[in-house]
Amino acid sequence: MNNDPLFSFDTDQGASVSALTRRHFLRLAGIGAGTVLLSSCGFGTAATPTHPPLPTIPRAASTGRVSAYTLEAAPTTLTLGGKKVSTWAYNGAVPGPLLRLTEGDTLKVTVKNRLPSGQDTSVHWHGVPLNNPMDGVPGATQEPIASGQDFVYTFVAPTAGTYFYHSHVGLQLDRGLYGPLIIDPTRETMSYDQDFVLVLDDWLDGLPGTPDDAMQKLIANGDTMGGMGGSSGMGGMSSTSVPPDIVYPLYLINGRSSEQPTQLAVKQGDKVRLRFINASASTIYHIALQGHRMTVTHTDGQAVEPVEVDALRIGMGERYDVLVTANNAGVWQLAAKVEGAEGMVRAVLKYKGSVATAPAATYQPEELKRHMLTYPMLKVAAGLVVPPAYTPDVSLPIQLSGGNGQYVWKINNEIFAKAQQIAVPKNSLIRFAMQNMSMMPHPMHLHGHFFQLDNGTGRGPLKDTVLVDAMQSLTVNWISDNPGTWAYHCHNAYHQEAGMMRFVRVS
Ligand code: C2O
Ligand code: CU
Repeated sequence: MNNDPLFSFDTDQGASVSALTRRHFLRLAGIGAGTVLLSSCGFGTAATPTHPPLPTIPRAASTGRVSAYTLEAAPTTLTLGGKKVSTWAYNGAVPGPLLRLTEGDTLKVTVKNRLPSGQDTSVHWHGVPLNNPMDGVPGATQEPIASGQDFVYTFVAPTAGTYFYHSHVGLQLDRGLYGPLIIDPTRETMSYDQDFVLVLDDWLDGLPGTPDDAMQKLIANGDTMGGMGGSSGMGGMSSTSVPPDIVYPLYLINGRSSEQPTQLAVKQGDKVRLRFINASASTIYHIALQGHRMTVTHTDGQAVEPVEVDALRIGMGERYDVLVTANNAGVWQLAAKVEGAEGMVRAVLKYKGSVATAPAATYQPEELKRHMLTYPMLKVAAGLVVPPAYTPDVSLPIQLSGGNGQYVWKINNEIFAKAQQIAVPKNSLIRFAMQNMSMMPHPMHLHGHFFQLDNGTGRGPLKDTVLVDAMQSLTVNWISDNPGTWAYHCHNAYHQEAGMMRFVRVS
């Protein structure tokens, strides 16, 4: 085992979880110790490494400081968008509390499961390349937290960036069980006057029915995209206008609807940092700020070469940080338009002293139709450690399919419940060559690692979640420097629940 404190299991609990996971894995994979794990998958190619040793992604050493929080997951009644809803939330609010600490500090979170009896839960720290036993995935890294029980997550925050946390059980993400997590760098190299965190969510819980009811409807309706996905192809539809699985009754930014929007107060001349987090279960957004351009500085918490745009597209699980110069006094719409459907949600940017009236709740600024960020425009920032351009040690074709007459979503033609784990050797260069054979976009998310997107530039961004559009092929490369069992799945919560997930075992 690695002696680095980040990777050693320093609690008794961690050690026993690890042992359990291994037994669980061997049972699932149907193989004994000593088997060549990779071959058990039946696909993929392994080469004897011929390249120089690989770098590892730098992770901050422990400062010894501890940031302690408590998250109580419990039934709550909230007023959202003027409607009273019964839901499940952390500490009685949506989103859950902002957890914020500096890299190298230890995040210690006591999670109290006070959900109704029989409802297990867990908390996953989305995007954080932490030590495996703290990753919050029942069946891979821990036993689920049973109702009435507590669980303490504790890990050294390894890498600065914009992240979020959410339940990793069933469809609980599509209730209120999510919140923002910001890890600040030891030294901030960007300069700005204001820092706003904006969490986007699609809301149906209690309006009426629950996410589980919504899932039953999706299954009963089979493939909502049937006509398109079958013979007629996409018709004239572009990849950025595919209708979502679910049109939600309500969309929120920081728990607020367009009618009572989040207000961002700025002064003329301010440099404003906006951190967009898409915590939605099933909604992609196009975001634009009226009267301003946005300079994208980070995706999924990782720095990119700054690129100026009017609009950006954000999939479920993705994050974007942008800088805006407040040089246009007034009251402006920060709009997040739902992709493929009518809805939108907004926040309002308000300059101090401005007496302008706010735009109408549903006003869609022109900027939404102007210069939109695309993946080929993103280049990883100089100085970040990226997977070298060697021939990969393991190259896995990943086929994404489903939605042909049934609400079933698959990876390499298997649903999660029936699939074997994907086993890859540690400290190797791994390639996932994803091919979307379906008519829906899939935001594919890998736990515990950043991957580099091959966007044709040779300098693609480091990300942990990437939108693979309908019928599109996308390749990502990553260094398997974090041992353990990691979830890899579509971040559409309904696709994930309907089978579009695998465990990836790095050992
Ligand atoms: Cu936010 Cu397994 O994911
Ligand atoms: Cu999907």
